[in-house]
Amino acid sequence: MEKLCKIFGKQIWQSPKTYICFKLMIMQSIKQYVEQHKQRLLDELFELLRFPSVSADPKYKPDVLKAADYVAQKLRDAGADKVEVCQTDGYPIVYGEKIVDALKPTVLVYGHYDVQPPDPLELWNTPPFEPTIRDGKIYARGACDDKGQFYMHIKAFELMMQNGGLPANIKFMIEGEEEVGSSNLGIFVKANKEKLRADVVLISDTSMISMENPSLETGLRGLSYLEVEITGPNRDLHSGVYGGAVANPATILAKMIASLHDENNHVTIPGFYDEVIDLTPEERKALDNAPYDEDEYKKDLGVDALWGEKGYSTFERTGTRPTLEVNGIWGGYIGQGAKTVLPSKASAKISMRLVPNQGSDKITQLFTDHFTKIAPACVKVKVTPHHGGEPVVTPTDSIAYKAAQKAITESFGKEPIPTRGGGSIPIVALFEAELGIKTVLMGFGLDSDALHSPNEKYDIFNYYKGIETIPLFHKYFAELSGKG
Ligand code: BES
Ligand code: MN
Ligand code: MN
Repeated sequence: MEKLCKIFGKQIWQSPKTYICFKLMIMQSIKQYVEQHKQRLLDELFELLRFPSVSADPKYKPDVLKAADYVAQKLRDAGADKVEVCQTDGYPIVYGEKIVDALKPTVLVYGHYDVQPPDPLELWNTPPFEPTIRDGKIYARGACDDKGQFYMHIKAFELMMQNGGLPANIKFMIEGEEEVGSSNLGIFVKANKEKLRADVVLISDTSMISMENPSLETGLRGLSYLEVEITGPNRDLHSGVYGGAVANPATILAKMIASLHDENNHVTIPGFYDEVIDLTPEERKALDNAPYDEDEYKKDLGVDALWGEKGYSTFERTGTRPTLEVNGIWGGYIGQGAKTVLPSKASAKISMRLVPNQGSDKITQLFTDHFTKIAPACVKVKVTPHHGGEPVVTPTDSIAYKAAQKAITESFGKEPIPTRGGGSIPIVALFEAELGIKTVLMGFGLDSDALHSPNEKYDIFNYYKGIETIPLFHKYFAELSGKG
């Protein structure tokens, strides 16, 4: 039986017998393109990495804007239409699209061109915004999160455009405020539902287990982030003159924070676990199948022992259970030398990672009520909520997931293992709620790539591998949709 087959827009008659041979040909032409252009593909990413596009710190504003313009120009160069740097009340959203056929499915690619602050600078071996290759890895802030990863999609798009055209329509939405909570993207999405209409959202902003064990994340945790401030006396006091008679806010804060976990490392906030959906034994077993080397894990982090909620494995703790972390804690004198002082105030930044079916607003409220209640009468408490985000689980029975599975199996030679990610991309839940579109998380990073840490890196191999895998996703997504 003969059937009509298309490779990136080209139509070729083929028989099932020659199908395998054909798949090889496609892979070969993809690899050839990457090989031919490998230096330029790297140079362009390096140029993007040189913009210190730190969204959290206003001093970088001109650089964040320059990064947006660069992304827009690269989309135009690759062949996108309607490229626009869409203004918001914060940093702009770069949009671009290529609609080849209204009857074909549409893939909406999301990514972010902003990065986390590079601090502490003294811990970087080479400057964070001067990308450097060592041992086959690109060291730079944003190398993995998310410049190196979203840029693969622009280059994969270029590759398809140069090799017969697109198997599916494509839309790009690259934002500049992911690392600070995406508040303006939410507004943009609500106001542009038609423009953003698509069949699937495709994101490369998560991790794989390893290059030998490719995986696909099928969930992200939600987030509830707040700041607490404990106030004792109305001014810093001499710790000898008053110490012993007046409560020390730093001591009180430390005690209050310590009480938020019990001896089994469960969070003690009443109602915290009420909405959590326990995994089925089958789901737990599937997660258990993911290869995990505890010694390697500990070695990478430089810890002698792990810590976590009793009764759960490491992957369960990071992917399927809610947690509470202190992100920063301060108060009193932290300068050079010693100063004998009983501080007036002490503060902490606290975040909670959430899992289905917890709600960010509700958890923020539970925390606020509890934290206020446990404070002794000798201090005052102020709780200020920051950003939040809802948890998501992405389907594993969808056409898009199957397309990702096929694409990875073909390019890695091994079927991807489904895992649950511990991080958060708050906008994913919003895509589903506002646009009714589910997401595929096809990340090519590694947890050990030091995202948000000094010496962030991304393996050049992963970068090229991503560029090679993405066109296969588009091809299979179109094919499996029955619209290819
Ligand atoms: N790309 C990460 C999220 C991530 C990393 C998910 C690795 C899964 C695996 C993203 O840029 C990020 O850092 N998100 C923040 C949340 C945001 C509201 C600041 C996070 O998870 O802390
Ligand atoms: Mn990211
Ligand atoms: Mn990040």
